Amino acid sequence: MSQLLSAQSPSVDPETLVQKIYSADSFRQQGHALIDLLANHLEAVHSQKDSLVFPHQSPEESLAFWQAKKLKPEEEPLLELTQDLIDRSVRTQHPRYIGHQTAVVAPLAALAGLVSDIMNQGAGVYEMGMAANAIEKVICDELCQKIGFVPGSNGLITSGGSLANLTALLTARAVKIPENIWENGHSNQKLAIIVSEEAHYCVDRAARIMGLGSAGVIKIPTDPCFKLRTGLLEERLAAAQVQGLRVFAVVGSACSTSSGSYDDLVALGDFAKKHGLWFHVDGAHGGAVLYSKQYRYLLHGVEKADSFVMDFHKMLMTPALATVLLFKNGHNSYSTFHQKAQYLWQNNVEEWFNSAKRTFECTKYMMCFKIYTLLQTYGERAFQTVVDRQYNLARSFAGMIRQNPKFELACEPESNIVCFRYEQAEEDKLDQLNRSLREKILQEGHYYVVQTLLGGRHWLRVSLMNPMTTEADLQELLQKLEYLAAL
Ligand SMILES: Cc1ncc(COP(=O)(O)O)c(C=O)c1O
Repeated sequence: MSQLLSAQSPSVDPETLVQKIYSADSFRQQGHALIDLLANHLEAVHSQKDSLVFPHQSPEESLAFWQAKKLKPEEEPLLELTQDLIDRSVRTQHPRYIGHQTAVVAPLAALAGLVSDIMNQGAGVYEMGMAANAIEKVICDELCQKIGFVPGSNGLITSGGSLANLTALLTARAVKIPENIWENGHSNQKLAIIVSEEAHYCVDRAARIMGLGSAGVIKIPTDPCFKLRTGLLEERLAAAQVQGLRVFAVVGSACSTSSGSYDDLVALGDFAKKHGLWFHVDGAHGGAVLYSKQYRYLLHGVEKADSFVMDFHKMLMTPALATVLLFKNGHNSYSTFHQKAQYLWQNNVEEWFNSAKRTFECTKYMMCFKIYTLLQTYGERAFQTVVDRQYNLARSFAGMIRQNPKFELACEPESNIVCFRYEQAEEDKLDQLNRSLREKILQEGHYYVVQTLLGGRHWLRVSLMNPMTTEADLQELLQKLEYLAAL
């Protein structure tokens, strides 16, 4: 920081500096130039498939580069900084970006994000987020309807799937455990949740934040398709009860992160109902099929859920972060937090328009405007088109892998996540071979592929997030992997 500060010119007087910072004209000029630069970046990555997706550099190289920067403020360094950032970051807009589940942002949503940034509303309270709270309600109400939650349901938008899952589990505990833990802290009771061993780690983390400890996260093994084995639920619940655990919630993954497989939500919902448990569905990634006619069946049973999470910043082209958390019984969403904030709102009153009553954030970013802009411009059809396209592409890619005897699929993909490995080696060398293949492909930088462990074995993993990715890109990926394996 001191290096950065010393780079600033002390000769500008404070008032001139303030005028310069807030100059509308400078914003206009820099903004136009910036948009040109970003549009050129988009054009370049879309047309030059052989350009780098992953500019490989070590953490030390990256740190040294940014530490060494000493630009003169008079030169308005935004363009240069942006170009440096592009040169030294993963190019998610590149069609061969097939790595993590980060949204490949619709440029329009990024423009809407700029609006949110300039307006900088405190979206948690109505007075500071008049439009934001209303827009948020419009989006959540429509999604509740899609699930089949209405009447009486509601929802909120919050900063990411991890936070939304924690919020949902806090609500579950507030509703299902009559002792007032919020007020009195934990009694000696040992609380627990049931979840798949393949659930996203944030569910485990949420449970531990809530003081459940490792014993309070009952992880159910999965079947060969990496779905929670629902046939084990009764016996695991009974065993937990014998150990004195009080189970209050069951979580379904739709889909699970590593494999992209959807849990059986019908069976989970029925189990939860039978035992009076809260049923939460983590649809952070795969909940987006709510918009699809072709793949909506994967969420069959979601209507049985008490709460549901879906990230717009994964499948739905929205810049991070933008997560919806929906509640079947809207009253429950007010049970999560009982915080007095006299300067902000009246206590103990249900007010949809003061959304911070139901979310963690106090200063809350206006996440809804990006989503709303996409919906107003392209309609739900845009979401449907992208989800269908990417899920179909995953099935085509799985077909290519099946036809190539040098590769093996971990399981048939249900979503746009495909796990596979190169299998031309002895069994005990496969993990190392695939690990080194991924290292080689990252060193080369022309594709961005990730990896995962499934059943303790090493798999290459792609999330087909980019609607510009084609079958040809994936065919060439297999060729590239074969080539690298032969080196
Ligand atoms: C199924 C699932 N749940 C939760 C999360 C966490 O969401 P976020 O990254 O928005 O916190 C992820 C992220 O990959 C996920 O795949």
